[in-house]
Amino acid sequence: MRKKRVGILISGRGSNMRALVEAARNPEYPATVVGVFSNKQDAGGLQFARDAGIPAHVIDHRQFPSREEFDKALHAALKAAAVEIVCCAGFMRVMTPEILDHWRGRMLNIHPSLLPAYKGTHTHERAIADGARLHGATVHVVTSELDSGPIIAQATVPVLPGDTPETLAARVLEVEHPLYVKALAQFASGAIHISAST
Ligand code: GRF
Repeated sequence: MRKKRVGILISGRGSNMRALVEAARNPEYPATVVGVFSNKQDAGGLQFARDAGIPAHVIDHRQFPSREEFDKALHAALKAAAVEIVCCAGFMRVMTPEILDHWRGRMLNIHPSLLPAYKGTHTHERAIADGARLHGATVHVVTSELDSGPIIAQATVPVLPGDTPETLAARVLEVEHPLYVKALAQFASGAIHISAST
């Protein structure tokens, strides 16, 4: 089995990135993490990546005159690392066609809701405010429409009486890690086929 080369995009803590890196250490796992890319110098996850011996790249979006220019630089860095699959993991930038067009059908994201419910931000607050009984996380293929690409995998958690956005977020995060690990394995091994519409 040839492992697929994965680049992970982060902006912060990077706990999903860490789960993927740890899973990919298994010789049987069909992907290898060849780089972590952050738009923020102070993203907590960068240190973990460095300690794990994975090249950690900072491409600070504030250094670029436009979203497009930033996206071009990020794409160039992914290409330079010979990345084949991109995993967004808490990457807090809206991306433009400058990068999306190049990675069509080859870029995944994890979103903290049961899509198509609660696209965008503040998903946990909104689920609680709606009185939702079920919440969760989704791994999907990234398309030009935010949080709307084909769904690969979902995991649910209950919303419990007295939940705050923080307690609910923590419950969701626990299922995010194994979900992303499983979804990437399926995707990288070719078990999932994405049709042309993406
Ligand atoms: C996760 O909840 C993920 O679903 C969302 O952002 C958060 C990132 O957490 N996209 P982490 O940086 O992976 O710990």
